[in-house]
Amino acid sequence: METPLKVYKGLEGIYVLDSSLSFIDTENGKLYYVGYDVEELVARSNYEEVAYLLLNHKLPTMSEFSAFLGKLRDEMRLGEEELEVVRFVSKRSGGMDALAAYFIMTQKDAVGEVSPMDSAVRAVGKAGSVLGNVIRVQRGDDTLNPDPSLGIAGNLVYLITSEKPQPYQVEFLDDILILHAEHGVPASTFGSVVTASTLSNVYSSIVTGIMTLKGPLHGGAAEAAYQQFLEIGDPDRVESWLERALSERRRIMGFGHRVYKIYDPRAKVVKAMAAKASEIAGGHVKNLYEIALRLEEAALAKLAPKGLFPNLDFWTPMVYTAVGIPPNYFTAVFAVSRIVGWVAHLLEYWKDNRLIRPLHNYVGPPVGQKYVPIEARH
Ligand code: ACO
Repeated sequence: METPLKVYKGLEGIYVLDSSLSFIDTENGKLYYVGYDVEELVARSNYEEVAYLLLNHKLPTMSEFSAFLGKLRDEMRLGEEELEVVRFVSKRSGGMDALAAYFIMTQKDAVGEVSPMDSAVRAVGKAGSVLGNVIRVQRGDDTLNPDPSLGIAGNLVYLITSEKPQPYQVEFLDDILILHAEHGVPASTFGSVVTASTLSNVYSSIVTGIMTLKGPLHGGAAEAAYQQFLEIGDPDRVESWLERALSERRRIMGFGHRVYKIYDPRAKVVKAMAAKASEIAGGHVKNLYEIALRLEEAALAKLAPKGLFPNLDFWTPMVYTAVGIPPNYFTAVFAVSRIVGWVAHLLEYWKDNRLIRPLHNYVGPPVGQKYVPIEARH
């Protein structure tokens, strides 16, 4: 008798590529980018430097960094033609769709003479300026010229609020961008690399990444966690809400992770940020934070024995809200950050490209079915 084929559902436990970009230490709950502890990068670096690290696999010298920043800042600007595209893609609601549509409509920026590294840097530079303007247009405001001197985080806050960002807003958002920049091969990065493996271009791979990140089981979890906190409404309702949710076999959004069966190291950092955000912003953010704290405690009692702990998306809603990001754009901010992870992966993958083409196990009707003309079928 033939041994049945083993199908690896969800590709769980399967290694699909070699990468020098990040190491996830699932035993000790640590995350490293190119060997550097992400907690140290959050404390001492900034998103732009981390972007350099991921694209070049080393930290820059002063002169390398200033040349990189110069390029990035040039790319953060949006010309009238690009702003026109932004206005067009913003006609439909949704930051993720608009962001993806922007990269579809500007494909010409990623082909021809443009090297893959240049289009990667271009995408990293443009993304925040595009999203900030998408948010403006979708709420009925005019576009605003980006201010590259504010850096990627500061510029995004500036575009959203039309005001010079407060230091705490820049610091929070910059830290969030660092924490979301890279994480091995989750669904979005894998999708992005699959597209790249066909030798499609950098922008096409980014579009795949954005669309794959969108789902609530992946990047969309922060928006879903926010809605969950709103639905609970009051810290005193946490326990009864949780009991009902679990009895209905609902998932607690922001809990669980395919790779971490212990506390997500990024979530630890964001939890501390959420505490600060709640102090600074008070009101709504404080209420969300108190609900989250109580939900964490109650849910851990039930779910920790199954290896389910908060992931970073459990805590980001409070930080995003304190920064001024509207809740329906949380996932798009994640995408703005993760673009560098996607493009760093594909630049790495292209050094030794192989078309990704897995197999399927056929489980349909016996082959050789007789074709019956439609008039004779019943
Ligand atoms: N709440 C309650 N139970 C859960 C949760 C959750 N959040 N997550 C998993 N479980 C349970 C499942 O019901 C299942 O239980 P069972 O064995 O009794 O049927 C068991 O844990 C295993 O679940 P799987 O779906 O097989 O685990 P998987 O590794 O595929 O799931 C995932 C990972 C998708 C992240 C899951 O934990 C989940 O849906 N979490 C909520 C969404 C979320 O927060 N996603 C963000 C992930 S981080 C990121 O992408 C940036």
